[in-house]
Amino acid sequence: MTISLHRGPARRAAAPGVRPLAACVGDDLRVPVLGGAWAPYVNLDCAATAPALVAVAGAVTRLLPHYASVHRGAGLPSRTCTAAFEAARRTVHSFVGGRDDDIAVFTRNTTDALNLLATAVPPGAGDVLFLDIEHHANLLPWRSVPHRCIPVADTIAETLERLAAALAAAPAALVAVTGASNVTGEVTPVRAIAALAHTAGARVVVDAAQLAPHRRIDLAEIGADYVALSGHKLYAPFGAGALVGRRDWLDAAPPYQLGGGAVREVTIRETRWAAAPARHEGGTPNLVGVVALAEACRVLAALPEGALEAHEHALLGRLRDGLAATGGVRVHRVWEDSTDVVGVASFAVDGHDPGELGACLSAEHAIGVRSGRFCAHPLLSRLGAPEGALRVSFGLGTTLADVDRLLAALEGVLRDGPRHAYRRDGVTWIPVEDDRPSPDL
Ligand code: ALA
Repeated sequence: MTISLHRGPARRAAAPGVRPLAACVGDDLRVPVLGGAWAPYVNLDCAATAPALVAVAGAVTRLLPHYASVHRGAGLPSRTCTAAFEAARRTVHSFVGGRDDDIAVFTRNTTDALNLLATAVPPGAGDVLFLDIEHHANLLPWRSVPHRCIPVADTIAETLERLAAALAAAPAALVAVTGASNVTGEVTPVRAIAALAHTAGARVVVDAAQLAPHRRIDLAEIGADYVALSGHKLYAPFGAGALVGRRDWLDAAPPYQLGGGAVREVTIRETRWAAAPARHEGGTPNLVGVVALAEACRVLAALPEGALEAHEHALLGRLRDGLAATGGVRVHRVWEDSTDVVGVASFAVDGHDPGELGACLSAEHAIGVRSGRFCAHPLLSRLGAPEGALRVSFGLGTTLADVDRLLAALEGVLRDGPRHAYRRDGVTWIPVEDDRPSPDL
């Protein structure tokens, strides 16, 4: 569904809880705009990839002089790095409230974690069920095993009824559900879904790619069996993620990557595989990535209780009020009765292609948003936006001033039109003439 926002007075008063919650690398980045000027960059695309925290850069810098092979060397740096790798595992496990008997497997990202879990669903245990609002990472991996896609209803209550009916209709092994939508920001009722699934004898995996940067996760408390997350959405660099949860399926599953580190013993004919997590971590691991991920978890876990929610609530309020005052904007949402929304909002602007608007905001105003279908094509079709939408997403460093810059730019573009011409280039839009210099990396 979409919510139409009508013109109304914009709220510009100071709101509490809107100071940056942590310093990020690139907070003072300036970028060129068309015509030769430079402007401070406003990053409103944290849902795609969040900037690295300054603390994360510090942890990586401290590690690099000791850089050596993990689990493989006799030298002291190698032992130091092995200890750092296993300490990072404990930090990530604790960050998601892992139970004592849960394990944390390091992966490349959420997609990788969910693909790994898809290989571990016991054959014959039943279907994997998922809702039709998932992004591709939590949709495509399940197509390799028996599965059923359950269409959501207009309300959360009715959606839960549909899920309960599906669970009762045929055996299910696993319910795979996003923690928060990467398109609408709506938080999924994971606790209720876990209760339904467990009653039916199924397990639950939470795709926390978007939830983990915005809300505390406690596996034991929400009653989920697995959680998957990505470092690059959690203020750490690309290339490290995790799957945390029940050991038994992961111990019984075929090794995810065949290679050194995943074995106990190899003869010329036979292999005795290690137990998880090593079983699924073949090859020399991404030490820098997991140390960075663990540092980001440490910073997020240390935020005062409720600080993230208050910060995003203020930013979302400002955004929604401003969009309402702008007029002609429809904010997408899945459910009529959802109340908890993380700092992500997608919307349509009447008469404007979201791709052209996104390109114009970047090229003329130095504002980064995302346009398109957000790797969630079925959801965009369901929302009546098969051509895509414009998405704004907040991070720990976002301020009210950033939201105001976006609103002012949008208001100007809608009133006067873009100052430059844009054209499609494949799936994106680019300026017809682009005089911006490339950064000197
Ligand atoms: N899921 C990623 C996003 O929302 C790709 O941008």
